[in-house]
Amino acid sequence: MTTIAEPRSYQVITYGCQMNVHDSERIAGLLEAAGYVRAPEGVQADVVVFNTCAVRENADNRLYGNLGHLRPVKLAHPGLQIAVGGCMAQKDKDIVLARAPWVDVVFGTHNIGSLPVLLERARSLAASQIEIEEALTRFPSTLPTRREAAHAGWVSISVGCNNTCTYCIVPALRGREVDRRPGDVLAEIQLLVDEGVQEVTLLGQNVNTYGVEFGDREAFSKLLRACGRIDGLERVRFTSPHPAAFTDDVIAAMAETPNVMPSLHMPLQSGSDRVLSAMRRSYRADRFLGIIERVRAAIPDAAITTDIIVGFPGETEADFAETLRVVEASRFAAAFTFQYSIRPGTPAATMPDQVPKQVVQERYERLVDLVGEIAWAENRTFEGRTVEVLFAAGEGRKDAATNRLSGRARDNRLVHVAIPEGAERPRPGDLADVEITYAAPHHLNADAGPTNLRRTRGGDAWAAQQAAAAEPDAPRPAAVRLGLPTRT
Ligand code: SAH
Ligand code: SF4
Ligand code: F3S
Repeated sequence: MTTIAEPRSYQVITYGCQMNVHDSERIAGLLEAAGYVRAPEGVQADVVVFNTCAVRENADNRLYGNLGHLRPVKLAHPGLQIAVGGCMAQKDKDIVLARAPWVDVVFGTHNIGSLPVLLERARSLAASQIEIEEALTRFPSTLPTRREAAHAGWVSISVGCNNTCTYCIVPALRGREVDRRPGDVLAEIQLLVDEGVQEVTLLGQNVNTYGVEFGDREAFSKLLRACGRIDGLERVRFTSPHPAAFTDDVIAAMAETPNVMPSLHMPLQSGSDRVLSAMRRSYRADRFLGIIERVRAAIPDAAITTDIIVGFPGETEADFAETLRVVEASRFAAAFTFQYSIRPGTPAATMPDQVPKQVVQERYERLVDLVGEIAWAENRTFEGRTVEVLFAAGEGRKDAATNRLSGRARDNRLVHVAIPEGAERPRPGDLADVEITYAAPHHLNADAGPTNLRRTRGGDAWAAQQAAAAEPDAPRPAAVRLGLPTRT
């Protein structure tokens, strides 16, 4: 009598930036193509993959804490395999195995495609496997993918970064910038749209240098305009642009392409010219403010967000005051604020005048207060206004309890929309207009519910995905795709 083995289940735990979120979709796609199934919520998976981040020290600590928790689980669950990939794996190489020898596979940021083979090899040889390549040999878009959302998709336009910001570990882990050809990017977007995707986010560490590799300085603005010509593509976003390389053709393309959303995430890092220079960020505060002024002139309703580092080595109170001044002047809709974290191997790690922890903490709190105050004041200007919301799946856990659904306005503001008793429920991917009744610092509420609800192809794609998940024998939903033909 033969028995059919149950397929092995997997879980992917992701830390870090959108690149990692997107890489995790590829990890999931690869595992599904190799016959693994996603572990249901609350059930111990047979394979646990950590896709790690190394941008700040607390990311390191979190990984080793989690690996420690899994050790007894592994003893109790024979056959459990643990894989560690992403930026920490790339950075720590064999240290991961030295600190956590119960890990089965360590794979680098350029080795995602090898994961299924490495897992298999670790099982048959009963020995940990490690594969870390220094450079990218194949663009990851050639790999299968399992998208998290039916109506939205990430699209990498480049990987790696040629900048040398003195605090940053990313270039050492992701390598030099590799640009994907525009034809390949557009082909992938078209494919996504054909599958029901309405919103894409173009990803790169530095999107405005897109094209350096193939010699077209205006490649990014041309790409935005080309996105504008794709029928059915409702919303286009991108992250992140670098202020030094931000040219006016990008502002014009944003303003003149209706499906490019009025939102811009542009990292400031510091408002002090002295600190920017020590960070080797080659723009100055005036240039940053100039870009914001031109963006606002061309796109008056643009919401601008940023990243700021507090306590870079040598930062004085006067330098910090400059950061506060630029924050005041920029009127950010939101800012991600970080305490400077030493990354061994980066130039800033050995700079003199590291700022004491309590000084950093105190400045950090003042910055967070100011950022929150401005974000709240900006949000309050929306009370009474009507905005278009694209509904998302599961943003905000309180929504279920309060009978609200969440979505994003065109400018990317988070909106919680009350759904009146008996009213038609929007699906993730559907669009509606809502009147803002209340503004909080980090979200908006629309308590009167949606009007002008548009059931979209994105919503249909979501419904199809749900149906497929409930019926295991149904054809594979479009969100699971087995690779794309593209050049490296
Ligand atoms: N490529 C992106 C940023 C990637 S890292 C860009 O340049 O826009 C995301 C953010 O982490 C950075 O913008 C920076 O604010 C923060 N960051 C990077 N290294 C850091 C460090 N050593 N300490 C604290 N924050 C850091
Ligand atoms: Fe890091 Fe600077 Fe490159 Fe961003 S631009 S990834 S901060 S080196
Ligand atoms: Fe972290 Fe790597 Fe992204 S270090 S922020 S996951 S590129």
